[in-house]
Amino acid sequence: MMIRTLPFLLLPCLALAAPDITVADFEGDSFGEWKVSGEAFGKAPAKGALDGQMNVTGFQGTGFVNGYHGGDDSTSELESPAFKIERKYLNFLIGGGKFPGETSVNLIVDGKTVQSATGRFDRPGGAENLEWQSFDLSGYAGKQAKLQVIDKRKGTWGHLTLDQIVQSDAPKNLALNQEFAISGRYLVWPVTRDTTQKRRFFFTLDGEKEPYLYADICLSNNPDFWVFTDLANLQGRKLTVSGSIPGVLKDAWEKVKISDTYPGEEQIYQEDLRPQYHFTSRRGWLNDPNGLVYHDGNWHLFYQHNPYNHNWDNMTWGHAVSSDLFHWKERPAGLNPDAEGYMYSGSAVVAPKGSTTLPVKDESLVLAYTANGFLSYLPDHKAVQSVAYSEDGGKTFTKFKGNPVVPHVIAENRDPKIFWHEPSKHWVMPLYYDGPDYGIYVSKDMVKWEKTSDYKIPTDSECPDLFELPVDGDPNNTRWVAWGAQGKYMLGSFDGRTFKAESGPHQYYFGSAYAGQSYDNAPEKRRVHFGWMRDTGPGLNGAPFNLQMTLPMDFTLRTDSKGIRVHAEPSKEIEGLRQDTKEWKDLVVEPLSVDPLAEFEGGQFEIEAVIDASSSASEIGFKIFQDHLAVWKRADQTFTGANGPQSPVDGKIKIRLFVDTVSLEVFVNGTYTSRYIRQTAGTKPVRIVANGGEVKFDSLKIHRIKSAWK
Ligand code: FRU
Repeated sequence: MMIRTLPFLLLPCLALAAPDITVADFEGDSFGEWKVSGEAFGKAPAKGALDGQMNVTGFQGTGFVNGYHGGDDSTSELESPAFKIERKYLNFLIGGGKFPGETSVNLIVDGKTVQSATGRFDRPGGAENLEWQSFDLSGYAGKQAKLQVIDKRKGTWGHLTLDQIVQSDAPKNLALNQEFAISGRYLVWPVTRDTTQKRRFFFTLDGEKEPYLYADICLSNNPDFWVFTDLANLQGRKLTVSGSIPGVLKDAWEKVKISDTYPGEEQIYQEDLRPQYHFTSRRGWLNDPNGLVYHDGNWHLFYQHNPYNHNWDNMTWGHAVSSDLFHWKERPAGLNPDAEGYMYSGSAVVAPKGSTTLPVKDESLVLAYTANGFLSYLPDHKAVQSVAYSEDGGKTFTKFKGNPVVPHVIAENRDPKIFWHEPSKHWVMPLYYDGPDYGIYVSKDMVKWEKTSDYKIPTDSECPDLFELPVDGDPNNTRWVAWGAQGKYMLGSFDGRTFKAESGPHQYYFGSAYAGQSYDNAPEKRRVHFGWMRDTGPGLNGAPFNLQMTLPMDFTLRTDSKGIRVHAEPSKEIEGLRQDTKEWKDLVVEPLSVDPLAEFEGGQFEIEAVIDASSSASEIGFKIFQDHLAVWKRADQTFTGANGPQSPVDGKIKIRLFVDTVSLEVFVNGTYTSRYIRQTAGTKPVRIVANGGEVKFDSLKIHRIKSAWK
């Protein structure tokens, strides 16, 4: 038996694959029999990068088709002579723009385009490398075919590169269409930090036609780390992932699987650079806080998120909840990028019964967001304002079928921050337009919105917030704060339709904070705010996550020597993380005194100090891990890291300083500054600075801050 079957078993191995047939390798000094028109492809194959082009890699030999003659805006067409289809696949190297029909290679059989391919990039970033793609020729054996190469796109990535067109019996790329039964929390992905390596994947559920999510993921055979798609709310459903990857990534693709854990999870929140009491995402990049809303005992924190790498991309609404603003539990994404485009910043509210015609019952959470259609995988979409709702307390969200609720107005209009205006009994949406310009829209039902007015925050832009606060605690004397992404704000009045500025712009944030917003529906009328700490320093390079939120802080309005100003204190919930407090009263420190803080060891702490401004020292404050100063300078009345003036209030400088794994934040007399730091090994966490005289502390405290993750 064994002997008889042997020849059959061996047969497939012995059968030699038919040799490849080269259709074109573009090695000559001309395009030969190919017909060229227009400027972009030039008169002959290129030998490398052209003027103004990034370095081009991945072509074979010395020549290739390069559509960058005359830059991105030039156009061209190239047509091959007819050839006979004699193998199963057509493999070719291709790079450049991802614009179907505009930067593409078309295979034409019987006068019709039967297959088509593009480069990989449709937005800034990426790389000029050519990679293998393949057309499946089965069904066309023996037919005559032609190739048409089109470059008629203008602007970013408006060009195509092409080389080494070969008929073969084996494909050089893998067309994916794999079904996964969702029986575990995550779909895990091995990735490289090299963001030029991204491949586009589409996710569909239960055989539906439209993808519910698309993502550019840097799949890698040699992963720097692993990322995941969190599927906790899709258990039991069927997921199909489709896309096209080079054949060399087959091993990596085989590791993409459903699992209840992801490699690296055993280290989660203990990684070297992981902040211990600031919010960071488990994996990937974060920017703006979004959808800050308090509901049913939970503080919701959504955020701009790239779940798949350390850079800005794939804008998704990450989602976490906490009962105390410090201990967070991450949930699956609230909003995923889809045909509407990237999910840009926005807000969340609790919609009481009767306040909306969205198809919701009783009280539900509603998200208002920008669908940035300019970054859709489909052409001709713009940035518009849309809504989504949840009826299970924010576990799952449904995008409204009638989206968008505010169509495109101008530029990349974005960042709707909606709230209920009780006196007018309607919803209000401040919306960012462009430059320093914002608009205001109102609605009785969250579906039909009417524009009522415009306003400006000179020298600021993006991410509006608009809220009312009592001045010095007096409920009969209020101001409205119109807030912009840089933490600049106008003070004025608002009648439900129009914001009238009375003063500003004033500046609240200094340092790296950006794009913050405040909570809707917070208890005790609190105005709790989170900002995002942009990277203005060493950041979190090397970690599988990137960037953090600021501390949560409570805003009030107070009158000081300059007038009415936003004042903030870290939210009181931080007190729950304090331990081992040490306290000194009426302490005087001179340049040569023993520093009581020199004893302190550790990487997460808070300092509270009330300093008498009549102290004789010219520079007063703290030095953190040797390299980072937080110092008040008497001569010019400034505070390090804060560009604004910082004069004493009632003769005192009040400092609250917070150090976490990679950050330093300082509240000085109610203003705020922050930056990323590195904790230099072998240096003292904190020393008092008393230069040129004595420093009189009315009080000084140091608290160790516990990790929120343990
Ligand atoms: C601010 C911002 C927003 C936009 C978002 C995109 O940082 O540019 O205006 O919605 O980031 O991630």
